[in-house]
Amino acid sequence: MKNKLKIAVGVILFFVTATFQIYSQSIKIDVDKPTAKIQPSMWGIFFEDINFAADGGLYAEMVKNRSFEFTKPDMGWEIDGDAFSLNASSFIVSNRSSQNPQNPRYGSVKLSGDNAGLNMINEGFRGMGVKENNTYNFSIIASLVDDAKIKAIITLLSSSGEEIGNASIDFKSKDWNKYEVSIGCSKTDLKAKLKLRFEGSGEINFDMVSLFPADTWKNRKGGLRADLVQKLADLNPGFFRFPGGCIVEGRDLTKRYQWKTTVGDVEDRTMIVNRWNTQFDHRLTPDYFQTFGLGFYEYFLLSEDIGAEPVPIINCGMACQFNTAEVVPLDELEPYVQDALDLIEFANGTTDTKWGKLRAEMGHPESFGMEYIGIGNEQWGPQYFERYAIFEQAIMAKYPEVKIISTTGPFPDDNLFHYAKGELKNFSAPIVDEHYYRSPQWFFDNATRYDNYDRNSYKIFAGEYAAQNVEVCSPDNTNSWHCALSEAAFMTGLERNADVVYMCSYAPLFAHVEGWQWRPDLIWFDNLNSLATPNYYVQQLFGVNAGTDLLSTKADGKDLTGQGGVFASSVWDANTKEVIIKVVNNNKEVKSTVFELNSSKKFISKATMTVIGSEDLDLINTLEKPDNIVPVNKGVKVSGNTIKLDLDPYSLSVISVKQR
Ligand code: AHR
Repeated sequence: MKNKLKIAVGVILFFVTATFQIYSQSIKIDVDKPTAKIQPSMWGIFFEDINFAADGGLYAEMVKNRSFEFTKPDMGWEIDGDAFSLNASSFIVSNRSSQNPQNPRYGSVKLSGDNAGLNMINEGFRGMGVKENNTYNFSIIASLVDDAKIKAIITLLSSSGEEIGNASIDFKSKDWNKYEVSIGCSKTDLKAKLKLRFEGSGEINFDMVSLFPADTWKNRKGGLRADLVQKLADLNPGFFRFPGGCIVEGRDLTKRYQWKTTVGDVEDRTMIVNRWNTQFDHRLTPDYFQTFGLGFYEYFLLSEDIGAEPVPIINCGMACQFNTAEVVPLDELEPYVQDALDLIEFANGTTDTKWGKLRAEMGHPESFGMEYIGIGNEQWGPQYFERYAIFEQAIMAKYPEVKIISTTGPFPDDNLFHYAKGELKNFSAPIVDEHYYRSPQWFFDNATRYDNYDRNSYKIFAGEYAAQNVEVCSPDNTNSWHCALSEAAFMTGLERNADVVYMCSYAPLFAHVEGWQWRPDLIWFDNLNSLATPNYYVQQLFGVNAGTDLLSTKADGKDLTGQGGVFASSVWDANTKEVIIKVVNNNKEVKSTVFELNSSKKFISKATMTVIGSEDLDLINTLEKPDNIVPVNKGVKVSGNTIKLDLDPYSLSVISVKQR
C-alpha cells in the first residue's frame, strides 16, 4: 500500500514538474500600447567593394582588366606573340593620357604578313561562369590603322579548352567605334575563358574588351548579376549604404573613392587599384582593381530597384587612419565639401542643374530622393571633427532636409569612441554610425547596449557589425551558427531600442569564394552560384518582419535580455495587422514558453512560426551544402491570446500572429 502511494505521489509530482517545466517561462507582450515607431530604415544593407564584391561579383563584367589599365597592363591576359621578334605579330600597349586622361591605355595588335593571326585569352575573375543556352554580349571599342583589314573571332572556351560558343566581328573603320556581338553558349562551366583572335593584315587599336551575360538583373546591358541582386532584394532592406567602408577613405587620398569619377560613360570612368588589393599579407589579391562600372548612378538605381533608401558615404578629407592617415589641410577641404554638395544635386537636383542633368542623361530624370549622406567612414580624433564641422555647416546651409550621418570611429567602446561621443554633443548630426566587430559573447552581452542610451541625443546607425569567432581580420573566422545566433540576440536589443536605433547593417556583405580578403561575410558566391549564410537568414528574418511599432515584451516585468538564455523583442505591423515576436533561445535545451498577448484585439487561431537553429554551433552553409542551416516554417496554435511553444535549442524563432 505504502509503495502504491509512493508511486502515485511520484506520478503526480512528475506531471506537476513536467507541466511546470513545459510552461516555465511566460512572456507578456503589450499589444495595445506600442512604445515607439520602427523606422522604415531599420534593417538595411552595407555594401563595400571588398572580397570581389563589385568587380568580379555584383558587377557582371566577365573580362578582367578590360581596358589594360591595371598596373601591369596585360594582367589577366595570355597573349600570343614574341616581344623579342621584329617579324612576328605583336601586341603592344599605348598610352594616350593627354587625349584621354580618364582611360589612357589601349591595346594594339600588329599582324605580320598576310593572313596572320594573334590570340589573346582573358581568364576572367578566377574564371568566367557561363551557362548552357545563355547568351553573352561581347563588345570592343576599336579603330583600324590605315588600310588594315582585320576581323576578330571571339570564342568561349570551356575549362578544358573546348569551344563552347563563338562569334566574329569585321572591323570597318579608322574611327574609334564600338562593335557588339552576341555569343550563344553550349555548356555550363564555372571556369570558362574568353579567346579573342585577330586575323588579317595590318594594325588595329582597341580598348574596353567586354563580356556580359544577357541575363543580368532586369536584363540591363552591362548590368549586375541577377542572382546576387535578388539576394539583396530578398532581405527587404530599408536602406542601402555604399560604397563602404574603408574603400571610401582610400589607403591614401589619391586612392579615395571619388564619386564623380564613377558616373557618366563607363569608358570614361577612371579605374584605380582596389585598396583591399594588398591590405592583408595572408590574402593578397594583386589583381583587384575598381573599374567603377558599378558607380554611383548604379548604386542609386540599385537602391531604388530593391526598395531601399540610398545612403552614400563620402570621403571627408581623410585617408584610412589604419593606413597612411593622410589628411587634407583645412584650407584645402573645399573641393571635398563641394563633392558632397554636388552629390546631393546629382541624386536629387532638378534636370536643369549641372549634376541633375547628368543623372537625367544617364537615364533617370526623376530625383532619387536621397535623404541621407554619411561624412567619413571610420574616422576618429580631432582631425575628424575639425573637418566634419565644415561639412555639416555647408550641407545644413544648402540642404537642411538631408540627414547627415557622423561616426564614432572603428570601435564600439574605446577611448576614441568616448571622445567622439563627447565631441558629437557640439554638432547637429542626427544619426551616428557605430561599428562592432566583436566576439559572439560580446554580442550576447551587448543586447542591452542601448537600453540606457541618452534618449535626447542623436540616433544610432549600427552601420557595420558581425560576430568574429576567432578575431577581427582573422582569415579563420567563419559564418558559424553561433555567430549568427549571437547577432540575432543582439538584434533583439537593437529592435527593443528602436526609439534610438534607426538603422542597422551587417558587414561586409559579399565575398567571392576564391577572391576574398575578409571574413565572415553575409553572402558568398562563385562565378555562377551564391550562398546565404546563417547570418543572412537572421538578417532576412528581421528585415522581412520589421513591423511598424515596437511592443513592450517582458518576463517577470523585465525586458528579455538573456535571463535564462532567452532574448526577445516584438513589433506590431500596422500594414499586415500582425504581432511579430522574435525570440532567441541560447540554451542547449528546449525552452518551453508561453506568450501572452495583452490586447483587446482578437487573433486568429493559427499563427506562423519560422525557426532557424542548430545544436551544432559551428555549423556553416557552403556552396556544396547550402541548406545545412536554413529557416523552417511551422504552424502554431493560438488559444485566445496565448501561445504555448517549445523553443528549439540554440534557435531564433519568429512568430507572426494575425489579428482576426
Ligand atoms: O567591413 C570591412 C571593414 O571593416 C570596413 O571597410 C571598415 O569600415 C571596417 O573596419
